[in-house]
Amino acid sequence: MEMQSPIDPAGPVLGIETSCDETAAAVYAPDRGLLAHRLYSQVAVHAPYGGVVPELASRDHLRRLLPLVDAALADAGLRGPELAAVAYTAGPGLIGALLVGATLGTGLAFAWGRPALPVHHMEAHLLAPLLEDAPPAFPFLALLVSGGHCMLVDVQGLGRYRVLGETVDDAVGEAFDKTAKLLGLPYPGGPALAALAEQGDAGRFALPRPMLKRPGLDFSFSGLKTAVLVTLKELDAGGGASEQDRADLAASFQLAAVETLVAKTLRALEATGHRRVVVAGGVGANRLLRSRLRDALAARGASVYYPRIEFCTDNGAMIALAGSLWLRHGARPSSQVEARPRWPLAEVGSADR
Ligand code: KG4
Ligand code: ZN
Repeated sequence: MEMQSPIDPAGPVLGIETSCDETAAAVYAPDRGLLAHRLYSQVAVHAPYGGVVPELASRDHLRRLLPLVDAALADAGLRGPELAAVAYTAGPGLIGALLVGATLGTGLAFAWGRPALPVHHMEAHLLAPLLEDAPPAFPFLALLVSGGHCMLVDVQGLGRYRVLGETVDDAVGEAFDKTAKLLGLPYPGGPALAALAEQGDAGRFALPRPMLKRPGLDFSFSGLKTAVLVTLKELDAGGGASEQDRADLAASFQLAAVETLVAKTLRALEATGHRRVVVAGGVGANRLLRSRLRDALAARGASVYYPRIEFCTDNGAMIALAGSLWLRHGARPSSQVEARPRWPLAEVGSADR
């Protein structure tokens, strides 16, 4: 048995992500940046079902995760015991999927004599732009837009998060996915809908901008999806939706969703006085959202920060980064396997760290 070296908080951290339908492993070191990142997407596994099937997701994570961890360590030129810590996504997410990463992460950490660090998935998303050159300084406003979440967060520092507003029904990515399904597009719907929208006229259908007339920073997207359904039914009654009709409807939906996100972000900026906005989560890959936000924020002298496109969606790099930040911040390692399908962001860093 080899001697265990002391833990260097500035050493490399392995990050493991298995909260939904991507299996990912990455290694990050504060002084050297990202040393490796590997990802296996389960899209092909779930595509025949038109959405993520939780049990299939867990089983596929189980098959893929260990080889991915091995590959990431080989890419980084490291052996497990040379790591400073093992970080894994502890929630929120699908319970079975989370358990695979949490169990393996805790087990490997124990075997290597390193601390295991449970990471909050949405926290990792909002920290992901710190992986890029010229990262944003704290404090900033974060717009988190994914398949499971849609929220505006006041970020004062690591573990200092105040949720300013969130969706009262569907997350915006979920609305993209459900609307794409209505339009007969293949899974995953968000990128497919955005691609179809490129061919369409966004001014053709006047769809609602939900919750814009009401004060506050909450979102609602299910009414917008229903408006698309109603429009499709009208087109059907008139002889069926043509390819151009569908593209126009996709473009009109995308514009309504994006304008809503931009308007609420500006409102939150005004309420908080922040000068920096971080956009993260899968919908942050949307081109129209990126260009509209860039223009709107530039006009107000604020700057917007994104992770690179591949780190907008789920990945291991953001988990390794979050683990590394917490390690240097004196996080308490956990010897328990932690998997929390529901885990409010505001609880991160409060009670148990
Ligand atoms: O962050 P993420 O990978 O997973 C969750 O934690 O949910 O986000 C996935 C979501 C899906 O709803 C997907 O349709 C959406 O992000 N998405 C997009 C685009 N790319 C991914 N939505 C709109 N436009 C895109 N280009
Ligand atoms: Zn995510």
